[in-house]
Amino acid sequence: MANPIFVAVDTPDIAAARALVAAVAPHVGGVKLGLEFFCAHGAAGVAAVMDGQGLPQKLPLFLDLKLHDIPNTVAGAVRSLAPLAPAILTVHAAGGHAMLAAARAAAPSATRVVAVTVLTSLDDADLLAAGVPDGAAVQAARLAQVTRGAGLDGIVCSPHEVAAVKAAWPDGLFVVPGVRPAGSDVGDQKRVMTPAAALAAGAGVLVIGRPITGAPDPAAAAAAIAASL
Ligand code: C5P
Repeated sequence: MANPIFVAVDTPDIAAARALVAAVAPHVGGVKLGLEFFCAHGAAGVAAVMDGQGLPQKLPLFLDLKLHDIPNTVAGAVRSLAPLAPAILTVHAAGGHAMLAAARAAAPSATRVVAVTVLTSLDDADLLAAGVPDGAAVQAARLAQVTRGAGLDGIVCSPHEVAAVKAAWPDGLFVVPGVRPAGSDVGDQKRVMTPAAALAAGAGVLVIGRPITGAPDPAAAAAAIAASL
């Protein structure tokens, strides 16, 4: 099995991002760059980080930009990102069927487009305030159906939701953050699971940030997590 670990490189510093990626590259399956990095450096910064890995073959890129706008605008954004050839690209499922389908149609065929259902930072009270009375689990399952119906490849969900959604969507790609090796610092993540348990529950991609990036030796931390799988 290919290495499912995508290291979350959450920094606005290009040199730091390049050094981190070069260090962990032999031990991870891909690199996730998100809004913090992209808003600072754009596509040129992404290319600079991905080109500095020191590996014979470049790792896959996960662009976590969580796009959410009208279909025409999202499609245009996806086309603008196409030269970066992301392996995985995120949009918000709440954008609705037409927006999701437009994103899929605009993306390169090799790019897996996955939709964020309910942000893990929202609780049931937040959803109620936004007019969603059924709670996060029901809303995530509902948005997973919308996502699948629009032809996307999968969703982003918490490790605690993955088994239920995968049962309803066996060939979906489930991208799972909130992953913590046993005994490591949980930080601001509330619903965590170990990498091996998240994989066993059905995760296809494990998004792991601080347990690697905040370790005294990020390469050793990534190698240890990979060995635990
Ligand atoms: O450092 P940590 O392992 O918590 O990093 C998790 C990564 O996954 C961060 O880049 C965060 O933005 C992202 N993420 C998340 N929860 C989501 C979606 C993405 O933690 N629902």
